Amino acid sequence: MKIAILGGTGDLGKGLALRLAKNNEVIIGSREKEKAERIASEYREEGKKFGLDLRFSGLTNQEAVDNSEKIIISVPHEVLPQFLLTLKNYEGKLFVSPVVPMVKTKAGFSYEPFRVGDREVSAAELIKSTLEGARVASAFHTVPAIKLSDLEAKLNYDVLVAADERETFTEVAEIVSSIEGLKPFYAGKLYTSKYLESLTPLLLNVAINNGLHSPSLKIV
Ligand SMILES: NC(=O)c1ccc[n+]([C@@H]2O[C@H](COP(=O)([O-])OP(=O)(O)OC[C@H]3O[C@@H](n4cnc5c(N)ncnc54)[C@H](OP(=O)(O)O)[C@@H]3O)[C@@H](O)[C@H]2O)c1
Repeated sequence: MKIAILGGTGDLGKGLALRLAKNNEVIIGSREKEKAERIASEYREEGKKFGLDLRFSGLTNQEAVDNSEKIIISVPHEVLPQFLLTLKNYEGKLFVSPVVPMVKTKAGFSYEPFRVGDREVSAAELIKSTLEGARVASAFHTVPAIKLSDLEAKLNYDVLVAADERETFTEVAEIVSSIEGLKPFYAGKLYTSKYLESLTPLLLNVAINNGLHSPSLKIV
């Protein structure tokens, strides 16, 4: 598969890129093409340290959208609403959102959904309502970037996926399963994304209050 990662130069982007590139061709998207090319080359070098010949290319985010049918949006939640408005030619394409809108307060991490008018919406629902005609799914929220980026780390996590159509889930499940050690589960339609996104602040609070590092999710 060819998979684009918008914001693929960041923490989660790096981890997903390194893992996905073992079995896929990965496009690193960035606001700056030169940065995307430089980071793509760094990821190739990282792969070589582990004897892997990983396939990356670096493009602007829009070029990444133009050149792929499967696109992961990996930008910070604070910039998501404005960022989406910069994209075009996305109709019919699959967008996967790992975006978690959350804030840190004195009490701990808290889920803070977006607002559209007087309605609270999850990141995935915001993407769906902004990128009209695109197919949208929600996944990867509970997979720690630090573990993905460490190619020595053996993964054994479950990944909950929300999507309105079962066929869209199946497509995302193929992406998730292409990473060794990740198992996809269908959580339900896109409205369930708010539950998936809010698992991340929950896990972070559990980590802080119990001295854990990079906790993730396994359904038993
Ligand atoms: N980190 C994790 O462990 C983790 C786990 C699960 C989910 N997530 C979610 O994944 C998303 C990415 O997280 P991250 O930690 O990888 O974020 P990050 O490293 O802070 O940022 C990712 C990339 O976003 C791009 N970016 C920054 N400001 C931008 C702007 N104003 N407009 C467009 N692009 C901008 C940058 O790429 P360029 O400068 O190259 O354009 C940056 O490298 C977040 O929504 C987060 O909630 C993260």
